[in-house]
Parts: sequence; structure tokens; C-alpha cells
Amino acid sequence: MAKEKSVAFFCKECGYESAKWYGMCPSCHAYNSMVEAPKERKSSSGAARSGPRPVPRRLDEISTENSPRIGTGSEELDRVLGGGILPGSLILTGGDPGIGKSTLLLQVFRSLAAGGHKVLYISGEESLRQLKLRADRIGKFEGDISFLCETDLDAIEEIIREEKPEAVVIDSIQTMSRSDVASAPGSPAQVRECTNLLLTLAKSLTVTIFIVGHVTKDGTVAGPRLLEHMVDTVLYFEGDRHASYRILRAVKNRFGATGEIGVFEMTAEGLKEVPNPSAFMLNGRPEGTSGSVITGVMEGTRPLLLEVQALITRTNYGTGRRTAAGLDYNRVSLLLAVMEKRLGLSLSDCDAYVNITGGLRVNDPSLDLAVVLAMYSSYRDLPLDPNTVVIGEVGLAGEIRAVPMIKERVQEAARLGFSTAILPKSALRADLGARGMRLIGAADLGEAIRAVAKDQ
Ligand code: TYD
Ligand code: MG
Repeated sequence: MAKEKSVAFFCKECGYESAKWYGMCPSCHAYNSMVEAPKERKSSSGAARSGPRPVPRRLDEISTENSPRIGTGSEELDRVLGGGILPGSLILTGGDPGIGKSTLLLQVFRSLAAGGHKVLYISGEESLRQLKLRADRIGKFEGDISFLCETDLDAIEEIIREEKPEAVVIDSIQTMSRSDVASAPGSPAQVRECTNLLLTLAKSLTVTIFIVGHVTKDGTVAGPRLLEHMVDTVLYFEGDRHASYRILRAVKNRFGATGEIGVFEMTAEGLKEVPNPSAFMLNGRPEGTSGSVITGVMEGTRPLLLEVQALITRTNYGTGRRTAAGLDYNRVSLLLAVMEKRLGLSLSDCDAYVNITGGLRVNDPSLDLAVVLAMYSSYRDLPLDPNTVVIGEVGLAGEIRAVPMIKERVQEAARLGFSTAILPKSALRADLGARGMRLIGAADLGEAIRAVAKDQ
């Protein structure tokens, strides 16, 4: 047998292992990310080998019949998970503190228990009293649900093996520790070893485990990046903590599509689903003000209307400041450059602030045209017609390019009562199915601007 390589340090960002310490990780080039590995690492695969010898199987020998999806009681969450919980999966739920992770999981477990499933909620952060106070806000609990306050994962393993619950919450992975790992709870080594153990438990006992993970400043789950690679599904809670809505997004899903979002609202009785997120996102938007444009993006399989806001002002300094909230900063810089070149505007001495309202983060390039028109509207102080929705990607030549699923987006706008849509000319078809809606095709930025200016 090959001699096991001795590992003394590993990178908490990418998991690179080495016998030497480096100031900069040789693999991912992160600085100061090498940390000492635990002294004695019990290999979990070694422990599993004491059982029967594993047998490779052909696909037709593998039965998937007895693992139907379990509904979580929340349509939004079921869709994000790809149709419910797959028994035996390991699901990481990340998000800022106070955004509602514990609340969501408590509600899911309440509904699982009511549906006849045996579930266990383990908290390393709150006392039983605090858990009860939260549970009282959510409603009545029925069925086989129990609570445990514990941070020693070895003890938790024993309990899970004895009690055999169908689903377990570990709230949060940063508070858990294993006695054979020397470092403190929350350290990369602990997080990694604890997740390893939970993975073994989930797969060998077919128990679904929800792991709560805290998020660092830069928006990733604290601890090693490995955590995301080890679990089956990664869900992130987004949204402004001070506003009431919360967006749950699947960024990784071995058993379903990624990119699906679920929209929730935090109320005095816990999280409620938002069945009509577009209307929710547009709630309270200013009408008749310059710099505000509505666009339609796709979030997974669902169209969502949102508001892009821009503010362009003369700078007090030499060069303009640019900020982007909810969208890519570089994209905003690029679009400003396209506007300078193709529309002949002088924007280098202007500050530009661009914002997606609602605390949502959007990567869909179909946002481009709306960002350009919002900036143009603010620059010229020219309010756009509030019943117009704008969809299209902008190329470097100032051309407006087609985007996928235009029909779904236009129909969503029609459903919410918009009367006009400015679309890429190449996407203009008769069968977009938006009856009563005026569709204007624009081939480049000039045409798009003429279309909105004519509306005035
Ligand atoms: P919580 O689930 O504890 O967040 P996390 O586990 O992600 O840290 O959510 C806490 C916040 O939610 C807190 O500010 C109180 C608020 N809240 C409500 O507004 N209504 C409720 O019914 C509950 C249970 C919490
Ligand atoms: Mg919590």
C-alpha cells in the first residue's frame, strides 16, 4: 500500500495540501490562507472498510424507486431543490446572520413532522428556550420533531445512529467540533472534518442533513471552500436584511437545476412565500422620475421583472466614481464606455451609481439595455414611460442582441399590465403572445433611445 503523504498544512480557500507552509497558496494564489492541518486525521474511508466488501453495480441493477422526493411544505423551496428533498442528501444553507436560515429550516421541519416524518433539529447556537420562543412565533408543532442543543459532533453522530431520524438540521456547522481534531470550532479543519462525518452519515443512513453555514464578508460560506464541493446542494439566502423579502437561490444542485430562486417574505409569523415576485419587486417604484427602468430577467425557469436605477451626476473630483449594487461593476464600466463611444456622450467626468432594487444579485446580460437606458435617462434627466419594459443585451458595437426566453419575459410584463416593450429587433416575432402590448424592436442603442424619447 502506498505510504500516506504527510500533510501538515492546507489552504482554507481551495483545499490545497502541502507539507510546507506558504504565504501564498501555490494553487489558488490566495494570501495567508494556509493553515495547519489537524494532527491525527482519522480517515473516514478507512472506518467504512470494516463493513462488507463494496460491489460495483450496473445501472440497471440500481433501484431508484424507493427514493421519491419529499415535499418541504413550501412550493418555493421545493422548486429550488428541484422538486423536493431527495432522502440522503446533504444540503448547505448559507446566508448572512439574521437573514432567516434557522427560521426557514424550523418551518420546513415543522411541515415534515406534520407529514409523518421523524425529524431532529440540532442547534449549537441557541438554547432550547430560544428555540421554543421561535417555534411559538411560527405556529403549532405536531408529529415527531425533537430538539437538541449540542456542539459535540461525535455525540451527535451517536444520537443520529440511535434515533434514526429521517432528516436533521445542524445549525450551524461553525459551532460544531470533533474531539479528535485539535483546532477550535469554526476553524477550517473542524468545518472540513465535521462535514466529512455528516456526509458519511447522510449517505450510509439515508438521512437528509441540512447544514447551516455562516457567510463571510465576501459572500462565501466561512471555512474551507471545500464545504461547497462536499455537499449535494448549496442554497444561499440573499436579500436586504432590513427589508422584508428574502431570496433563496440554488447555486449548486446535484439533483436539480441551479439558478432557481424562491422568494419569501419575513413576517411576524415566520417566512411566507411570495407567489407573485415580480409585483413584489416593483412595489413602491418611483413613476415619472428619471433613471428608473423596468426590465425582465430569467431566474431559473421563471421570468422576474425588476427595476434598474441609475444616477449620473457631474463629479466633484477629476474622474468619476462608479458603483454597482446587485450587478457586475465591470459590466457597468463597459456599458458606460459603449455609451461614450456609440452615443457620443461625455461620461468620464460623471459619477455613475447603478442599483438593482430589491437586494437581488443579477448576472443575466439581458439587463444591459435597461442599465444603459437608466443611465441615459438620468444623464438627460428624462423620465421614461413607467409602463415600458426594456429587454436586451448590448454588444460592444452598441448593437442590441437577442436574449433567450424572450416570450416568457414579455408575457410576464403583459401579465403585470405593462403596455410597451422595447426588445432586440432580431427577437421580434409575431408569436410573442403579448396581446395588447406594443412591441418595439431596436437594433442598436440609437434606435432604443429614439424609441423611448418618442414616447415622451
Ligand atoms: P434567523 O432565522 O434567526 O436568522 P439566521 O438563522 O439566518 O441567523 O432570523 C432571525 C430574524 O428574523 C430576526 O431578525 C427576527 C426575524 N424573525 C421575524 O421577523 N419573524 C419571525 O417569525 C421569526 C421567527 C424571526
Ligand atoms: Mg440561526
